Amino acid sequence: QSVFVLNGPNLNLLGTREPTVYGSQTLADVEKICADACQRHGLELVFRQSNHEGELIDWIHEAGRLLAEGRLRGLVFNAAAYTHTSVALLDAVKGTGVPMIELHISNVHARESFRHHSYLSAAAKAVMCGFGVAGYGIAIDAMAQWKS
Ligand code: DQA
Repeated sequence: QSVFVLNGPNLNLLGTREPTVYGSQTLADVEKICADACQRHGLELVFRQSNHEGELIDWIHEAGRLLAEGRLRGLVFNAAAYTHTSVALLDAVKGTGVPMIELHISNVHARESFRHHSYLSAAAKAVMCGFGVAGYGIAIDAMAQWKS
């Protein structure tokens, strides 16, 4: 079974982007954390990043097709700023039924009030934030306990 890890806008800049908020590890480091976690559990990793909402939607649909074939464990989704704006991403998760953990590197609740609301949480099995990039590995560890 596969684990999809999808990352939204500006996460390609991890490492140099506001390091006091997001730390100094890069997206490649995050991919390594995810790959190690998947390897621990015998899961296959699909790890992607896009700055484009529609591309993220297409990838959620792709995950949905794998789910229908029994080949998906779940989705770890850091939708970044789209978290706070996108009904379309919410509808994609709802429409496919993909089991999803919403993830944020930073503690969004300790930040600006516009980051306190998430359109995605309503469709999430679980929400995690504030664990830094280590959160990705923790999310995959949790997902590995889900019934396959
Ligand atoms: C983020 C938090 C969002 O508010 C922000 O727009 C991001 C990253 C995080 O990982 O902490 O781009 O999702």
